[in-house]
Amino acid sequence: MKGRKNNNLSIFVVVFSVFLFGVFMYNEDVKSLADFPFSPRPKAQEIPQGKSKSVSVVESVHVGADEEKETSTATSIQLEKSHQEEDQGSAEEEEEDEEEEEEEEEEAEEVIELPPEECDLFTGQWVYDNVTHPLYKEDKCEFLTAQVTCMRNGRRDSLYQNWRWQPRDCSLPKFKPRVLLEKLRGKRLMFVGDSLNRNQWESMICLVQSVIPSGRKSLNKTGSLAVFRIEEYNTTVEFYWAPFLVESNSDDPTMHSILNRIIMPESIEKHGVNWKNVDYLIFNTYIWWMNTFTMKVLRRGSFDEGASEYDEVDRPIAYERVVRTWSKWVDQNIDPNRTMVFFSSMSPLHIKSEDWNNPDGIKCAKETTPVVNMSSPLEVGTDRRLFVISQNITQSMKVPVFFLNITTLSEYRKDAHTSVYTIRQGKMLTPEQQSDPATYADCIHWCLPGLPDTWNEFLYTRIISQS
Ligand SMILES: *[C@@H]1O[C@H](CO)[C@@H](O)[C@H](O)[C@H]1NC(C)=O
Ligand SMILES: *[C@@H]1O[C@H](CO)[C@@H](O)[C@H](O)[C@H]1NC(C)=O
Ligand SMILES: *[C@@H]1O[C@H](CO)[C@@H](O)[C@H](O)[C@H]1NC(C)=O
Ligand SMILES: *[C@@H]1O[C@H](CO)[C@@H](O)[C@H](O)[C@H]1NC(C)=O
Ligand SMILES: *[C@@H]1O[C@H](CO)[C@@H](O)[C@H](O)[C@H]1NC(C)=O
Ligand SMILES: *[C@@H]1O[C@H](CO)[C@@H](O)[C@H](O)[C@H]1NC(C)=O
Ligand SMILES: *[C@@H]1O[C@H](CO)[C@@H](O)[C@H](O)[C@H]1NC(C)=O
Repeated sequence: MKGRKNNNLSIFVVVFSVFLFGVFMYNEDVKSLADFPFSPRPKAQEIPQGKSKSVSVVESVHVGADEEKETSTATSIQLEKSHQEEDQGSAEEEEEDEEEEEEEEEEAEEVIELPPEECDLFTGQWVYDNVTHPLYKEDKCEFLTAQVTCMRNGRRDSLYQNWRWQPRDCSLPKFKPRVLLEKLRGKRLMFVGDSLNRNQWESMICLVQSVIPSGRKSLNKTGSLAVFRIEEYNTTVEFYWAPFLVESNSDDPTMHSILNRIIMPESIEKHGVNWKNVDYLIFNTYIWWMNTFTMKVLRRGSFDEGASEYDEVDRPIAYERVVRTWSKWVDQNIDPNRTMVFFSSMSPLHIKSEDWNNPDGIKCAKETTPVVNMSSPLEVGTDRRLFVISQNITQSMKVPVFFLNITTLSEYRKDAHTSVYTIRQGKMLTPEQQSDPATYADCIHWCLPGLPDTWNEFLYTRIISQS
């Protein structure tokens, strides 16, 4: 068993990496605190809607062949709509469009090819595929925040954008923004959780926004809720900040407490009211649990009353209480005939390069390829006890919950983190900070385009498979 650590050593390693991680998380929180609410982007996108409406007819003619092409790949409703739009175009344009339509009907059939319901999408491998991936270009998505635009922030290698997840027993359907948007028409989709779910939300915006002309989509961040709206589809893709899902002293997206995190494991209603009447809900909670072994649980009263006495409860015990509270809320408040519910398993970190046998590495900073040897499981310090708890609870609920089992497949993606090509406390890392990855590399969040796009491909598969 050479190369395998003995038990005592691996316990030490786990303890030590958790300690390092705790130190790291302190920085991380400061960063989250700074970057989300003060992001300079949203204002530019809060475009008055009146203006865009008045030019919408013109735009729908001017969007040209590409736009029409995508349009007719979607459902028959969408096809009819594009015919109407064609009527407003010139005769020449109509001819072109008709030619295109033939091609697209083939494409439309391709769309319908869905993996069988029982196929395990999460068991498979990473395949280098620079033909189909990335699914969008970093500089074509104006909504990305500086936290995730790694290339713009100076990253030189870009292969991390070219990996496609290939399930072992089936294939993921090709991502078609119009097909997803048609499903989302008149509906709301909401990510709820921590900054990793926000990472995935940003990815989802980029995945769908490419087919919508500028001026007909907007981003509005208000308090805990950020709403991306597409008028043409009357649809929203939203993110709600609740890093523990239940009430905590870290709930304010601008003022969340940093070191002394306290939760109220049985209190969820305050957040829950914001999740009602949503059609697709994607929950997660993990990273905020990881800076200490125990969780501080408010003993009595509420934060509003100024209560601050707490008990320290072992992480898995507190986590189970929280996930049970969440599951009860879902069972009591969600109409499964209306709403699809997802729960994401933990997004892993890559803090110790010895975990993937790179003694010369510095955290995730020097990694440019995924771990390709998948013959043995990778151990990067993920707390799998929490996986078991959430997996178990989500499988025994009244409301069906689709468990997004992203943990293992993401563990192979040591190459995909933002590392030093990101912001900290709202500011781009300086060249000095960038040259000190041991201190400054962010090996928690992910570059976009990148890994969270794959998580959304799972979501997409499930949503478009719904009858
Ligand atoms: C953003 O949303 C808030 C809350 O719904 C609303 O009050 C505000 O008017 C919106 N801003 C814009 C520019 O749409
Ligand atoms: C989650 O996916 C991994 C592979 O990525 C697989 O080994 C594991 O069995 C899956 N777990 C569950 C509960 O589906
Ligand atoms: C894709 O990768 C292959 C092999 O590395 C390379 O030859 C080709 O130029 C790449 N194509 C693009 C579009 O990057
Ligand atoms: C738009 O969608 C909302 C739900 O998100 C729905 O309540 C409303 O009726 C829709 N409006 C139109 C004009 O379809
Ligand atoms: C969901 O729909 C089914 C069949 O239409 C119906 O029997 C069931 O009562 C509905 N469930 C809820 C919670 O409304
Ligand atoms: C993959 O990892 C296993 C276990 O660590 C090892 O025995 C094997 O030699 C590795 N394969 C390659 C191709 O590196
Ligand atoms: C899974 O949950 C059930 C109750 O929902 C419980 O009885 C069982 O012990 C749990 N199993 C694990 C492995 O946590």
